[in-house]
Amino acid sequence: MRQNEAMELDALVERASTEIAAATDLESLAEVERSFVGKKGELVGLKKTLGQLEPEERKAAGQALNEAMSSVAAVVVDRRAVLATAAEAEQLASERLDLTEVIEEVKRGHLHLVTQARDRLEDVFVGMGFTVAEGPEVESAWYNFEALNIPEWHPARGSFDTIFVDLGEPETTMLRSHTSPVQVRTMENQEPPIYIVAPGRTFRTDTADATHLPAFNQIEGLVIDKGIGLGDLAGTIESFVGAFFGHEVKTRLRPSYFPFTEPSAEFDISTPSGDWLELGGCGVVQPKVLENCGIDPEIWQGFAFGFGIDRLAVMRYQLDDIRELVNNDVRFLRQF
Ligand code: PHE
Repeated sequence: MRQNEAMELDALVERASTEIAAATDLESLAEVERSFVGKKGELVGLKKTLGQLEPEERKAAGQALNEAMSSVAAVVVDRRAVLATAAEAEQLASERLDLTEVIEEVKRGHLHLVTQARDRLEDVFVGMGFTVAEGPEVESAWYNFEALNIPEWHPARGSFDTIFVDLGEPETTMLRSHTSPVQVRTMENQEPPIYIVAPGRTFRTDTADATHLPAFNQIEGLVIDKGIGLGDLAGTIESFVGAFFGHEVKTRLRPSYFPFTEPSAEFDISTPSGDWLELGGCGVVQPKVLENCGIDPEIWQGFAFGFGIDRLAVMRYQLDDIRELVNNDVRFLRQF
């Protein structure tokens, strides 16, 4: 083989190596391979020229050409391996699924502040030896009024702003306007001594304003025992207010009138601003009410009280407006 032909072959192999290294994917590599060692490739083209050489030269040139072809083929094999690995990695990356579970902080709610107040009240009274009683929200005139010494003609009926239910004779069935009917139901079903509290929903025709709701919550208290009097009532109210609010809050009783207690009083608690807030009514149970429930007033005496739980929550959490309790604004409720 002549000198310049051998140099040409080396240059060709080198060019092939450079182009192979420059191929960035399997497809372009296959094209480069074809252009050098394919049927119409440059090296194969050189083979055809061998025929024009002398037999002696032909042998050496053929050998050099074969070596060149196999060295180009080896470079292609190496490059193909590199590109195949890269292509596989790329495919794996594109098919990768992120199954990592992102665990967010659990967003848990809490009890409404009226429910919290009710639960706390129950706890305080249970701690004082009371049990918790219940009654229905729809009542008959007997339980809501008559047994409580409020006969049909009695002017006190008007003061309760009752919501009647369209059932039976007019004004005989109603949404209870206070929790006092639970006093009657308890005395009918239970032998004295009785120490109960009865929290629950109550209803009146009131229009909602800053201090009133037409559907509100009361808690009733009833004690029937021997030798019970006004002093026991005042002491009970004072200890419950102390346990609920702290002992800096003062209570006061103002003479009042309820047909089912005698004497009767309204009780107020002191507010941080120095005013008094009316919380509810109370008194010594009327002998007539005991009789209506089959209890002998010569043997048993007692006291009762009833007050608004919502107002208590307003006071405890220093709210400006009782309607906040029913607006269901989570931003407000979340604070308590
Ligand atoms: N039931 C009365 C009211 O709702 C409150 C009360 C309860 C008064 C018990 C005396 C005794 O106004």
